[in-house]
Amino acid sequence: MNEPRPIVVANFKAHKNWDEMESWIDQVGSSVRDFAGPVIICPSYPILASASSKLNPPTGGQNSKLKLGAQDISKFEEGPYTGEVSASQLAKICQYAIVGHSERRKYFAEGDGDVIQKVDLLLKSEITPILCVSDLKQLDAYVNEGKTVVDNAQKIIFVYEPPSAISKDRDYRPEDPQVADQNAAEISRIFNQNVLTLYGGSINPENIKAFLSKENIAGGLVGQACLDADTFLQLISKSA
Ligand code: PGA
Repeated sequence: MNEPRPIVVANFKAHKNWDEMESWIDQVGSSVRDFAGPVIICPSYPILASASSKLNPPTGGQNSKLKLGAQDISKFEEGPYTGEVSASQLAKICQYAIVGHSERRKYFAEGDGDVIQKVDLLLKSEITPILCVSDLKQLDAYVNEGKTVVDNAQKIIFVYEPPSAISKDRDYRPEDPQVADQNAAEISRIFNQNVLTLYGGSINPENIKAFLSKENIAGGLVGQACLDADTFLQLISKSA
């Protein structure tokens, strides 16, 4: 995949209403204009359409480095699935979508088969999947299933994110950057091709450089440290 690096993904989870998100975009948008890679912001669904109009006004956007991603999509293409949002519904709104996050697996009982279906639907809608890998054993399912993930690995952004490293109660507990780098390299080895892999879990302004300096880590998936715009801008300035 030919994305310029570093790639920074801001995962807002179930935080921020539209007013809060709008002022975050106002503060961060113009400051990341010269950032080398894309800064992909992933707010909740109700925010996405408004954020899309704000980032892509008909008069031409000023926030070109800010890109939009969803935090998840439905595993169904379309139909009577109350509460679901399909990939095709998001196609004109965002260019990326996170799938397979360990919080989806933990709280919503999602499995490897669900994740594979979601990747397939995203690719059909030309949305880039940001595929979280919380345990390298999950890759067995993708390799054995044979087609969707392996054949399209160059169209996917992978994220190595061990659940134990995800911040908890505002406490950062990151993976050792060396171990993260080895695991990112292992993802390419298992797929037998060089794939783009980010690291996620407790990234903050103090540790981002240590992860981005690693050969196999192309960027970061950021949760807690994206919520406050000042903290996020510090993180961005340390990533340059
Ligand atoms: P964290 O979350 O940066 O708060 O650890 C990252 C994520 O779960 O995507």
